[in-house]
Order: sequence, then C-alpha cells, then structure tokens
Amino acid sequence: MKYVITIDGPTGSGKSTISRLVAKRLNCPYLDTGAMYRVVALALKRGGIPLSDEPAVANTCDNLDIRFVPGHDTNRVYMDDEDVSEPIREPDMDLFASDVSKLDVVRKAMTTLQRKIGAQGPLVAEGRDMGTVVFPEARHKFYVDASTEVRVERRYQERKNRGEFISLKQVREDLIKRDRQDMKRSLAPLKPSMDAVIIDTTDLSIDQVIEQIVGKIEQKRD
Ligand code: DC
Repeated sequence: MKYVITIDGPTGSGKSTISRLVAKRLNCPYLDTGAMYRVVALALKRGGIPLSDEPAVANTCDNLDIRFVPGHDTNRVYMDDEDVSEPIREPDMDLFASDVSKLDVVRKAMTTLQRKIGAQGPLVAEGRDMGTVVFPEARHKFYVDASTEVRVERRYQERKNRGEFISLKQVREDLIKRDRQDMKRSLAPLKPSMDAVIIDTTDLSIDQVIEQIVGKIEQKRD
C-alpha cells in the first residue's frame, strides 16, 4: 500500500467535501467509497436481484465496472459506460446502499477493489471503514463527526438544493435510521479507528477542518 489518507464518518459529517478539498490541497486523487456501494446497489436494483440471492449478488459485483472520471468539481461515477452520478444519489438509494453494504460478498468485492486503487499511489479514501478495515496501515487517519442536528440540517440543505421536496423531520428520521444501520452491522461497522484523529465539525467551517487535517499531515511528515 502506498501513501493513503483515510477519512471516515457518518452522513452529514462533511467528509465528502473535506476529502475532495484535502485531496486537492495535496494534489492527489480521492476515492468516494460510498459511491461504490451505491453503484452496486443500483446494479442490483436494476437487475431485480434479491439481496438474499448471494451467488447472483456476487456475480453482479464481479461483472461490474466502476470508474471515477475527474469532472469539473467532483468526480463523475460510471457504471460500465453509463454516467450514474445522479441516479446513485436518488433518495431511495441512501438506505438501499446501506442495506447492500451489509452483505459479506459485496464488502469483500469492494474492499479488494479499494485496496487495488490504494496500491496505485497516494490517495485520500473516504467512507465508513477506511481506517478500520480497508487501510489499517494508513499513515494518516481521520474520523469526522458533528452533532445530529447539524448533520440533519446539512443533509436537508443538500437534498433541497437538489430540488427534492422533503421535510426536516423526514431527513432526521432517515439519517438516524441509516446511522444506526451503518454502526450496528456486524461487518466493518462505522466507528473511528483507534489511531484516528477525531474532528468534531459541528462548529467548524470547511476551511478550518481542512487546515486541521493538512496541519496534522504536515506535522507527521518525515
Ligand atoms: O457515504 P454514502 O452516504 O454515499 O454511503 C452510502 C452507504 O454505503 C452508507 O450508508 C454505508 C455504505 N458504505 C459502507 O458501508 N462503507 C463505506 N466505506 C462507504 C459507504
């Protein structure tokens, strides 16, 4: 494994924006592993494959080509030759991707792919289990979090900006349900790695978080 920086955290912690900007500052690629689970979920949904059909789920993972293509600001996500950046973020994909990510065959396939990408060079990898399971040897590990209310508000704004009609109450219910599911599952649950630097982003601006992370990385450089 080359030089990997892991950034884990729950929904609304700011980890996607933070990972993208840290990678930009360090001039290296970033990997949105949540998007990978979402692509698998989309493929299974479109194929009408029940999650209980393990061989069919495994077969779908094996035959899936997931690619990230650098876009104007964020990366575009491709499933085979189709740009699925929007469909994977449809509201019903949030909880479904979380359901799919509980499956052993899916986690094994994604972990293998993520490690292959990590072996290619410096990388900022964001997700739920980057520091704990996928890159336990990473030199720099971060776990970002924020109060539930702030995360709900951020998620609400994000969904509203996408043109969704949704209530704050519904966003809160969805977020709490998904948090619980991601934290309580038996395989690679969301939790900070013992050696991760934990950053509470509740009262911090994105710039302040980036400065903290880049500062820590520079401190530890040898
Ligand atoms: O980060 P996100 O909301 O796009 O992730 C979607 C789901 O994928 C999330 O609810 C749990 C799962 N996931 C995971 O299990 N492990 C990761 N490293 C990233 C995401």
